[in-house]
Amino acid sequence: MSTPSPTTPAPPRSPLHSILYDGVSLRYLNQRLLPTELRYQTVLDADGAAAAVAAMEVRGAPAIALLGCLAVALELKGGRGPRGDPEALVEFVEERMGRVRDARPTAVNVGRETERLKGEMRAWMDREPAVSEGELRDRAIAHLEALLQKDVEDNRRIGSHGARHIAQRLQGGSRATLLSHCNTGSLATAGYGTALGVVRALHSEGRVARLLCTETRPFLQGARLTALEMLHEGVPTTLIADSAAAAAIRERGVHAVVVGADRIAANGDTANKIGTYSLAVAALHHGVPFYVAAPSSSWDPNVPNGASIPIEERPERELTELQGVRVAPHGIDVWNPAFDVTPHELITGGIVTEFGVFRPEELRHALGGR
Ligand code: MRU
Repeated sequence: MSTPSPTTPAPPRSPLHSILYDGVSLRYLNQRLLPTELRYQTVLDADGAAAAVAAMEVRGAPAIALLGCLAVALELKGGRGPRGDPEALVEFVEERMGRVRDARPTAVNVGRETERLKGEMRAWMDREPAVSEGELRDRAIAHLEALLQKDVEDNRRIGSHGARHIAQRLQGGSRATLLSHCNTGSLATAGYGTALGVVRALHSEGRVARLLCTETRPFLQGARLTALEMLHEGVPTTLIADSAAAAAIRERGVHAVVVGADRIAANGDTANKIGTYSLAVAALHHGVPFYVAAPSSSWDPNVPNGASIPIEERPERELTELQGVRVAPHGIDVWNPAFDVTPHELITGGIVTEFGVFRPEELRHALGGR
């Protein structure tokens, strides 16, 4: 592994927090500037959150949801929205969360959190018909603010379930070589991470020989973000080109591929960063278990299968340019989907959630109603 170039700052000693929230102000780490610059920026409301998400300054399905939820909490705290009418408040919350949800259509977490909050608010109104708008507002704020801590706790559970599952399949006390894609760590969540949470948990038990981290074209979440997080954590990590993944699986003794999810359909088909599907095909060919690690809020019982998941297509220039420099001829046709769908039958290791590791066909039973 090569040493960082002199222009790359040493990884910070404090954990990388994607979102900072103190109940009064909301700030996010601008991920477009990493790894060369660590800059936190302020968000005042749902429109600001939606703009940061659309610009990919905050990315990763759980981090997107948290930024949106906390921006709406701030709006509610600041007295925005209808006064005196509980039902109108529910509609206001839905409209504000919808701004963030629509900024990137594939990740389902904002939509799922909206449904959960609406359900809670309606249940409070049913149980206590005399509940005031002010009381409902306070409870909605508390619900939204609690999500930051809940995300870290869920990630830790995902990490320990996944680590146990993988460790049980290793020979004796041997250490695992893992392969992951995109960034699913602290930067993509409130902290710790999902697929990288599994890596972290295994590493804390001394069971990681090496993580192979794909660069993740075209946005380079692997090269810019995962590499930074893993350097910071001291996890032995090797950066590879996306196109080296199949060869790496065959030649570097990979024990498991672990990725995140933006949306898991009812049948377990999973949308994740473009390139995930090819990794699953390569893993199956080589008999390597393929895991998806995600919180239950990534499971969408409303879409029956992967074909119904909307796939975001990003601007052409993300492929025709590299850091502002043109690399493809003008006039070339471009297809730039941000995500692809991995069919559930390729998810051979299992789907790792905060409630345990499930086969795709077990999800409906395991997560239905949660
Ligand atoms: O386009 P991105 O960077 O938002 O894509 C992120 C991913 O695909 C992640 O794997 C997914 O959101 C899970 S992050 C815990």
